[in-house]
Amino acid sequence: MTEKIFLAIESSCDETSVAILRDKQLVTNVIASQVSSHQRFGGVVPEVASRHHVEVITRCIEEALAEADVTPKDLTGVAVTYGPGLVGALLVGLAAAKAFAWAHGLPLIPVNHMAGHLMAAQAVKDLTYPLLALLVSGGHTELVYVEKPGDYKIIGETRDDAVGEAYDKVGRVMGLPYPAGRQIDELARQGQDVYHFPRAMIKEDNLDFSFSGLKSAFINLHHNAQQKEEELVLEDLCASFQAAVLDILAAKLAKALQQYPVKTLVLAGGVAANQGLRQRLAADLPAELDLIVPPLRLCGDNAGMIAYAAELEYAKGNLADLALNAKSSLAFDYLESE
Ligand code: KG4
Ligand code: ZN
Repeated sequence: MTEKIFLAIESSCDETSVAILRDKQLVTNVIASQVSSHQRFGGVVPEVASRHHVEVITRCIEEALAEADVTPKDLTGVAVTYGPGLVGALLVGLAAAKAFAWAHGLPLIPVNHMAGHLMAAQAVKDLTYPLLALLVSGGHTELVYVEKPGDYKIIGETRDDAVGEAYDKVGRVMGLPYPAGRQIDELARQGQDVYHFPRAMIKEDNLDFSFSGLKSAFINLHHNAQQKEEELVLEDLCASFQAAVLDILAAKLAKALQQYPVKTLVLAGGVAANQGLRQRLAADLPAELDLIVPPLRLCGDNAGMIAYAAELEYAKGNLADLALNAKSSLAFDYLESE
Protein backbone atom coordinates (compact mmCIF):
# COMPACT_ATOMS: atom_id res chain seq x y z
CA MET A 1 0.00 0.00 0.00
CA THR A 2 1.40 3.38 -0.91
CA GLU A 3 1.80 5.95 1.81
CA LYS A 4 -0.96 8.55 2.08
CA ILE A 5 0.06 12.15 2.67
CA PHE A 6 -2.51 14.91 3.20
CA LEU A 7 -2.03 18.65 3.37
CA ALA A 8 -4.80 20.39 5.35
CA ILE A 9 -5.74 24.06 5.58
CA GLU A 10 -7.80 25.69 8.36
CA SER A 11 -8.87 29.36 8.36
CA SER A 12 -12.39 29.40 9.81
CA CYS A 13 -11.79 31.93 12.58
CA ASP A 14 -8.64 33.64 13.86
CA GLU A 15 -6.02 30.98 13.28
CA THR A 16 -4.37 30.35 9.92
CA SER A 17 -3.05 26.82 10.00
CA VAL A 18 -1.55 24.28 7.61
CA ALA A 19 -0.74 20.70 8.58
CA ILE A 20 0.65 17.59 6.96
CA LEU A 21 -0.50 14.11 7.94
CA ARG A 22 1.81 11.38 6.72
CA ASP A 23 0.90 7.75 7.16
CA LYS A 24 -1.59 8.72 9.95
CA GLN A 25 1.08 10.74 11.78
CA LEU A 26 0.89 14.49 12.12
CA VAL A 27 4.33 15.57 10.94
CA THR A 28 3.74 19.31 10.97
CA ASN A 29 1.05 21.68 12.18
CA VAL A 30 1.91 25.34 11.45
CA ILE A 31 -0.40 27.70 13.35
CA ALA A 32 -0.34 31.48 12.83
CA SER A 33 -2.56 33.00 15.51
CA GLN A 34 -4.05 36.46 15.11
CA VAL A 35 -5.49 36.60 18.59
CA SER A 36 -3.41 39.62 19.61
CA SER A 37 -4.90 41.65 16.72
CA HIS A 38 -8.43 41.00 17.97
CA GLN A 39 -7.76 41.44 21.68
CA ARG A 40 -8.31 45.20 21.76
CA PHE A 41 -11.77 44.69 20.22
CA GLY A 42 -12.73 42.05 22.80
CA GLY A 43 -13.58 39.48 20.11
CA VAL A 44 -12.81 38.41 16.55
CA VAL A 45 -13.39 41.12 13.92
CA PRO A 46 -14.27 39.23 10.70
CA GLU A 47 -12.69 41.76 8.30
CA VAL A 48 -9.44 41.84 10.25
CA ALA A 49 -9.41 38.02 10.36
CA SER A 50 -9.78 37.66 6.58
CA ARG A 51 -7.02 40.16 5.93
CA HIS A 52 -4.60 38.38 8.24
CA HIS A 53 -5.36 35.02 6.62
CA VAL A 54 -4.56 36.49 3.20
CA GLU A 55 -1.26 37.84 4.50
CA VAL A 56 0.06 34.58 5.95
CA ILE A 57 -1.62 31.64 4.17
CA THR A 58 0.97 31.18 1.42
CA ARG A 59 3.82 31.34 3.90
CA CYS A 60 2.10 28.78 6.14
CA ILE A 61 1.72 26.35 3.21
CA GLU A 62 5.38 26.75 2.22
CA GLU A 63 6.51 26.38 5.81
CA ALA A 64 4.47 23.21 6.34
CA LEU A 65 5.84 21.57 3.18
CA ALA A 66 9.42 22.53 4.09
CA GLU A 67 9.07 21.37 7.70
CA ALA A 68 7.65 18.01 6.61
CA ASP A 69 10.17 17.73 3.78
CA VAL A 70 7.33 16.98 1.38
CA THR A 71 6.78 18.25 -2.18
CA PRO A 72 3.34 18.75 -3.77
CA LYS A 73 3.84 15.66 -5.95
CA ASP A 74 4.16 13.48 -2.81
CA LEU A 75 0.66 14.48 -1.65
CA THR A 76 -2.46 12.29 -1.81
CA GLY A 77 -4.88 15.21 -1.44
CA VAL A 78 -5.52 18.73 -0.16
CA ALA A 79 -8.06 19.13 2.62
CA VAL A 80 -9.77 22.33 3.64
CA THR A 81 -12.28 23.53 6.23
CA TYR A 82 -15.32 24.82 4.32
CA GLY A 83 -17.53 25.53 7.35
CA PRO A 84 -18.80 26.33 9.88
CA GLY A 85 -17.01 29.61 10.57
CA LEU A 86 -16.63 33.20 9.39
CA VAL A 87 -17.42 33.23 5.70
CA GLY A 88 -14.70 35.68 4.69
CA ALA A 89 -12.11 33.80 6.71
CA LEU A 90 -13.18 30.43 5.28
CA LEU A 91 -12.98 31.78 1.73
CA VAL A 92 -9.28 32.56 2.09
CA GLY A 93 -8.41 28.99 3.05
CA LEU A 94 -10.74 27.64 0.35
CA ALA A 95 -9.19 29.78 -2.38
CA ALA A 96 -5.71 28.70 -1.31
CA ALA A 97 -6.68 25.02 -1.19
CA LYS A 98 -8.45 25.10 -4.55
CA ALA A 99 -5.56 26.88 -6.24
CA PHE A 100 -3.06 24.45 -4.74
CA ALA A 101 -5.14 21.39 -5.67
CA TRP A 102 -5.72 22.65 -9.22
CA ALA A 103 -2.09 23.63 -9.79
CA HIS A 104 -0.80 20.23 -8.69
CA GLY A 105 -3.66 18.06 -9.98
CA LEU A 106 -4.63 16.88 -6.49
CA PRO A 107 -8.04 15.86 -5.12
CA LEU A 108 -9.77 18.45 -2.94
CA ILE A 109 -11.21 17.12 0.34
CA PRO A 110 -13.94 19.18 2.06
CA VAL A 111 -13.88 19.05 5.87
CA ASN A 112 -16.34 20.23 8.49
CA HIS A 113 -14.54 22.23 11.20
CA MET A 114 -16.41 20.42 14.00
CA ALA A 115 -15.53 17.01 12.57
CA GLY A 116 -11.97 18.28 12.77
CA HIS A 117 -12.29 19.16 16.46
CA LEU A 118 -13.66 15.67 17.13
CA MET A 119 -11.03 13.85 15.07
CA ALA A 120 -8.18 15.61 16.90
CA ALA A 121 -8.71 12.78 19.39
CA GLN A 122 -7.19 10.45 16.81
CA ALA A 123 -3.82 11.95 17.82
CA VAL A 124 -4.19 10.18 21.16
CA LYS A 125 -5.08 6.72 19.87
CA ASP A 126 -7.00 4.90 17.17
CA LEU A 127 -10.63 5.67 17.97
CA THR A 128 -13.08 2.82 18.41
CA TYR A 129 -16.72 3.15 17.37
CA PRO A 130 -19.48 3.82 18.18
CA LEU A 131 -18.47 6.82 20.27
CA LEU A 132 -19.92 9.96 21.76
CA ALA A 133 -18.27 13.37 21.59
CA LEU A 134 -18.81 16.55 23.55
CA LEU A 135 -17.61 19.39 21.34
CA VAL A 136 -17.16 22.66 23.17
CA SER A 137 -15.69 25.68 21.41
CA GLY A 138 -16.12 29.42 20.97
CA GLY A 139 -18.79 28.87 18.33
CA HIS A 140 -20.35 25.51 19.21
CA THR A 141 -21.58 23.27 21.98
CA GLU A 142 -22.62 19.91 20.61
CA LEU A 143 -23.12 16.33 21.63
CA VAL A 144 -22.31 14.11 18.68
CA TYR A 145 -22.95 10.40 18.22
CA VAL A 146 -20.57 8.72 15.80
CA GLU A 147 -21.73 5.23 14.92
CA LYS A 148 -18.92 4.59 12.47
CA PRO A 149 -15.92 6.58 11.22
CA GLY A 150 -16.99 9.82 9.55
CA ASP A 151 -20.70 9.37 10.33
CA TYR A 152 -21.55 12.31 12.62
CA LYS A 153 -25.01 12.79 14.13
CA ILE A 154 -25.79 15.74 16.39
CA ILE A 155 -27.90 14.53 19.32
CA GLY A 156 -27.80 17.76 21.36
CA GLU A 157 -26.65 21.34 20.90
CA THR A 158 -26.89 24.80 22.36
CA ARG A 159 -30.07 26.73 21.74
CA ASP A 160 -28.30 30.08 22.16
CA ASP A 161 -24.70 30.86 23.14
CA ALA A 162 -21.82 28.44 22.78
CA VAL A 163 -20.01 27.66 26.00
CA GLY A 164 -16.74 29.32 24.91
CA GLU A 165 -18.70 32.38 23.85
CA ALA A 166 -20.22 32.57 27.35
CA TYR A 167 -16.73 32.36 28.88
CA ASP A 168 -15.51 35.18 26.64
CA LYS A 169 -18.54 37.38 27.31
CA VAL A 170 -18.44 37.12 31.10
CA GLY A 171 -14.67 37.56 30.87
CA ARG A 172 -15.23 40.84 29.10
CA VAL A 173 -17.62 41.98 31.85
CA MET A 174 -14.89 41.22 34.40
CA GLY A 175 -12.35 43.14 32.32
CA LEU A 176 -10.32 40.06 31.36
CA PRO A 177 -8.56 39.95 27.97
CA TYR A 178 -10.08 38.01 25.05
CA PRO A 179 -10.28 35.01 24.89
CA ALA A 180 -11.01 34.71 28.60
CA GLY A 181 -11.65 30.96 28.98
CA ARG A 182 -8.22 29.98 30.20
CA GLN A 183 -7.93 32.79 32.72
CA ILE A 184 -11.41 32.14 34.14
CA ASP A 185 -10.44 28.48 34.51
CA GLU A 186 -7.29 29.48 36.45
CA LEU A 187 -9.09 32.01 38.67
CA ALA A 188 -11.92 29.52 39.32
CA ARG A 189 -9.44 27.21 41.01
CA GLN A 190 -8.80 29.86 43.67
CA GLY A 191 -12.47 30.61 44.42
CA GLN A 192 -15.73 29.09 45.66
CA ASP A 193 -19.20 28.75 44.14
CA VAL A 194 -20.82 31.39 46.35
CA TYR A 195 -23.10 33.05 43.79
CA HIS A 196 -25.02 29.93 42.69
CA PHE A 197 -25.90 30.88 39.12
CA PRO A 198 -28.80 29.08 37.39
CA ARG A 199 -28.22 25.76 35.63
CA ALA A 200 -30.57 26.10 32.67
CA MET A 201 -32.43 23.11 31.22
CA ILE A 202 -30.53 20.76 33.47
CA LYS A 203 -33.62 18.77 34.45
CA GLU A 204 -35.26 18.82 31.04
CA ASP A 205 -35.48 15.55 29.23
CA ASN A 206 -33.45 16.51 26.17
CA LEU A 207 -29.79 16.78 25.27
CA ASP A 208 -29.75 20.49 24.41
CA PHE A 209 -27.90 23.25 26.24
CA SER A 210 -28.56 26.90 27.01
CA PHE A 211 -25.99 29.36 28.30
CA SER A 212 -27.58 32.75 27.65
CA GLY A 213 -29.51 32.71 30.97
CA LEU A 214 -26.31 31.99 32.85
CA LYS A 215 -24.57 34.81 31.03
CA SER A 216 -27.43 37.23 31.80
CA ALA A 217 -27.52 36.21 35.47
CA PHE A 218 -23.79 36.88 35.65
CA ILE A 219 -24.08 40.27 33.95
CA ASN A 220 -27.00 41.28 36.20
CA LEU A 221 -25.14 40.35 39.36
CA HIS A 222 -22.10 42.30 38.18
CA HIS A 223 -24.15 45.31 37.13
CA ASN A 224 -26.17 45.44 40.39
CA ALA A 225 -23.02 45.16 42.48
CA GLN A 226 -21.46 48.03 40.54
CA GLN A 227 -24.53 50.21 41.09
CA LYS A 228 -24.53 49.50 44.80
CA GLU A 229 -20.75 49.88 44.86
CA GLU A 230 -20.42 46.41 46.33
CA GLU A 231 -17.20 44.45 45.89
CA LEU A 232 -17.45 41.08 44.15
CA VAL A 233 -14.65 38.57 44.58
CA LEU A 234 -13.19 37.85 41.13
CA GLU A 235 -12.08 34.31 42.00
CA ASP A 236 -15.53 33.48 43.42
CA LEU A 237 -17.25 34.93 40.37
CA CYS A 238 -15.13 32.71 38.13
CA ALA A 239 -15.61 29.65 40.35
CA SER A 240 -19.39 30.20 40.45
CA PHE A 241 -19.63 30.65 36.68
CA GLN A 242 -17.47 27.62 36.00
CA ALA A 243 -19.38 25.46 38.52
CA ALA A 244 -22.63 26.22 36.68
CA VAL A 245 -21.06 25.42 33.29
CA LEU A 246 -19.60 22.14 34.54
CA ASP A 247 -22.90 21.08 36.16
CA ILE A 248 -24.76 21.71 32.89
CA LEU A 249 -22.21 19.89 30.73
CA ALA A 250 -21.89 16.96 33.14
CA ALA A 251 -25.68 16.54 33.48
CA LYS A 252 -26.32 16.52 29.72
CA LEU A 253 -23.42 14.19 29.13
CA ALA A 254 -24.74 11.74 31.72
CA LYS A 255 -28.12 11.80 29.95
CA ALA A 256 -26.51 11.25 26.56
CA LEU A 257 -24.54 8.28 27.87
CA GLN A 258 -27.74 6.70 29.17
CA GLN A 259 -29.31 6.96 25.73
CA TYR A 260 -26.15 6.03 23.83
CA PRO A 261 -24.24 3.56 26.00
CA VAL A 262 -20.88 3.76 24.21
CA LYS A 263 -17.46 2.76 25.47
CA THR A 264 -15.57 5.80 24.16
CA LEU A 265 -16.11 9.49 24.87
CA VAL A 266 -14.23 12.28 23.12
CA LEU A 267 -14.01 15.72 24.69
CA ALA A 268 -12.79 18.26 22.15
CA GLY A 269 -12.82 21.90 21.00
CA GLY A 270 -11.14 24.95 22.53
CA VAL A 271 -13.01 24.64 25.85
CA ALA A 272 -11.73 21.05 26.22
CA ALA A 273 -8.54 22.76 27.41
CA ASN A 274 -10.47 23.58 30.61
CA GLN A 275 -8.79 21.85 33.54
CA GLY A 276 -11.92 22.01 35.71
CA LEU A 277 -13.94 20.27 32.99
CA ARG A 278 -11.31 17.58 32.48
CA GLN A 279 -11.16 16.87 36.21
CA ARG A 280 -14.92 16.86 36.58
CA LEU A 281 -15.45 14.39 33.75
CA ALA A 282 -12.61 12.15 34.89
CA ALA A 283 -14.21 12.03 38.36
CA ASP A 284 -17.86 11.67 37.23
CA LEU A 285 -17.63 9.21 34.39
CA PRO A 286 -17.75 5.46 34.88
CA ALA A 287 -14.24 4.00 35.05
CA GLU A 288 -14.90 1.64 32.13
CA LEU A 289 -15.61 4.55 29.78
CA ASP A 290 -12.56 5.56 27.76
CA LEU A 291 -12.33 9.38 27.95
CA ILE A 292 -10.15 10.75 25.17
CA VAL A 293 -9.10 14.40 25.20
CA PRO A 294 -6.77 15.70 22.49
CA PRO A 295 -3.50 17.25 23.62
CA LEU A 296 -3.80 20.98 24.40
CA ARG A 297 -2.17 22.13 21.15
CA LEU A 298 -4.84 20.22 19.20
CA CYS A 299 -7.81 21.51 21.26
CA GLY A 300 -7.81 25.03 19.80
CA ASP A 301 -8.25 25.65 16.08
CA ASN A 302 -5.53 24.01 14.00
CA ALA A 303 -5.17 22.23 10.67
CA GLY A 304 -3.84 19.02 12.23
CA MET A 305 -7.37 18.11 13.33
CA ILE A 306 -8.64 18.89 9.82
CA ALA A 307 -6.06 16.47 8.39
CA TYR A 308 -7.25 13.64 10.67
CA ALA A 309 -10.88 14.23 9.63
CA ALA A 310 -9.81 14.51 5.98
CA GLU A 311 -8.35 11.04 6.00
CA LEU A 312 -11.82 9.63 6.77
CA GLU A 313 -13.50 11.77 4.13
CA TYR A 314 -10.97 10.63 1.57
CA ALA A 315 -11.56 7.00 2.51
CA LYS A 316 -15.33 7.59 2.06
CA GLY A 317 -14.64 9.07 -1.37
CA ASN A 318 -15.97 12.45 -0.30
CA LEU A 319 -14.17 14.77 -2.71
CA ALA A 320 -15.14 18.24 -3.92
CA ASP A 321 -14.63 20.07 -7.18
CA LEU A 322 -13.53 23.67 -7.66
CA ALA A 323 -17.12 24.87 -7.18
CA LEU A 324 -16.82 24.11 -3.44
CA ASN A 325 -18.04 27.13 -1.49
CA ALA A 326 -17.75 28.29 2.12
CA LYS A 327 -20.72 27.49 4.37
CA SER A 328 -20.68 29.64 7.48
CA SER A 329 -23.32 27.57 9.26
CA LEU A 330 -22.45 24.17 7.86
CA ALA A 331 -24.10 21.40 9.84
CA PHE A 332 -22.84 17.86 10.10
CA ASP A 333 -24.23 16.81 6.72
CA TYR A 334 -21.65 16.21 4.11
CA LEU A 335 -21.84 16.99 0.44
CA GLU A 336 -23.75 13.91 -0.58
CA SER A 337 -26.66 14.72 1.74
CA GLU A 338 -26.89 18.40 0.80
O1 KG4 B 1 -12.12 25.80 19.27
P1 KG4 B 1 -11.63 27.18 19.48
O2 KG4 B 1 -10.14 27.42 19.48
O3 KG4 B 1 -12.23 28.15 18.42
C1 KG4 B 1 -13.52 28.00 17.94
O4 KG4 B 1 -13.70 27.21 16.97
O5 KG4 B 1 -14.41 28.63 18.54
O6 KG4 B 1 -12.23 27.66 20.88
C2 KG4 B 1 -11.96 28.93 21.41
C3 KG4 B 1 -12.74 29.06 22.71
C4 KG4 B 1 -12.70 30.49 23.28
O7 KG4 B 1 -14.03 30.85 23.58
C5 KG4 B 1 -11.88 30.34 24.55
O8 KG4 B 1 -12.24 31.25 25.58
C6 KG4 B 1 -12.17 28.92 24.94
O9 KG4 B 1 -12.18 28.21 23.73
N1 KG4 B 1 -11.15 28.35 25.85
C7 KG4 B 1 -11.43 27.95 27.11
C8 KG4 B 1 -10.20 27.52 27.68
N2 KG4 B 1 -9.23 27.65 26.72
C9 KG4 B 1 -9.83 28.16 25.61
N3 KG4 B 1 -12.58 27.95 27.80
C10 KG4 B 1 -12.55 27.48 29.05
N4 KG4 B 1 -11.42 27.05 29.67
C11 KG4 B 1 -10.24 27.04 29.03
N5 KG4 B 1 -9.14 26.61 29.65
ZN1 ZN C 1 -12.92 25.62 16.47
